[in-house]
Amino acid sequence: MYRVKVPATTANLGPGFDILGMALDFYNIIEVREREEGLKIEIEGLGADELPTDENNLAYQAMDYLFSRTDYSPAGLEINLINQIPLSRGLGSSATVIVGGLVLANCLAGEPFSTDELLNFATKIEGHPDNVAPALLGGVVISVMTEDGEIIYKRLDVPKLSTVVGIPDFKLSTTEAREVLPAQVIFEDAVFNSSRVALLIASLMSKDYDLLATCFEDRLHQSYRQDLVPGMDSVIKYTKEAGALAVALSGAGPSIIALTLNQEESVGKTMVQTFARHGIEANYKITKPAT
Ligand code: HSE
Repeated sequence: MYRVKVPATTANLGPGFDILGMALDFYNIIEVREREEGLKIEIEGLGADELPTDENNLAYQAMDYLFSRTDYSPAGLEINLINQIPLSRGLGSSATVIVGGLVLANCLAGEPFSTDELLNFATKIEGHPDNVAPALLGGVVISVMTEDGEIIYKRLDVPKLSTVVGIPDFKLSTTEAREVLPAQVIFEDAVFNSSRVALLIASLMSKDYDLLATCFEDRLHQSYRQDLVPGMDSVIKYTKEAGALAVALSGAGPSIIALTLNQEESVGKTMVQTFARHGIEANYKITKPAT
């Protein structure tokens, strides 16, 4: 039997839409073993009663994607998923299953593919690299898609900060959250974001976190998603006032991610209380970046 533990991820980190992502220290676990025939999938934990246990299961589909590119064809498969990451909350649960499925299938097939090839497969399945890259590699990852659709990446050390995730009690599909984005953005907004991304990378590399609040500003996606995440702007504003160094929508939302040196409890409680003022139940999770 092969087993992998794949971290949650927070994508975008404010301005780095489809470019930046960071692994977080909580995990989904996936196991696989070959069996004599047929497909058997068991799911424990979050989403156990709603995720498919047949060929529509994303872990199986990722495995099948890899097997179809090899000569290897298992007689049957038993897959176990132990889920600790909430679904459709902007915390990369799909990415864990895609990455986990590919890594396990690669093990079963005798490791014909490199890590870089697995990342390219994962990006093709997910459609964007910023969750699958840190899920596969850990840390903070800058992912660049070439015009040929290949991924070039650089991995940075994780910041020595705590992360607090405010997790609303509703799901938001990434597809829906991408449909509200404009086909074009104005030049000034593109410059605004590229300046913040550049500053953010420099701050992370020099471990100088004084400017993180400015680094996390965004004009490419968050405001367009405001209506999908009631209270988003207020949660970001009040969470900063509660002492967080930087706050942003986590991936496509609806969760909000805060980076903080301390005051984790008050940051988390502020997120929950502010969501509640907008009629949204939420909880918070204190964690840290994962290497
Ligand atoms: N960059 C993607 C988006 C991340 O914001 O749509 C999805 O988790």
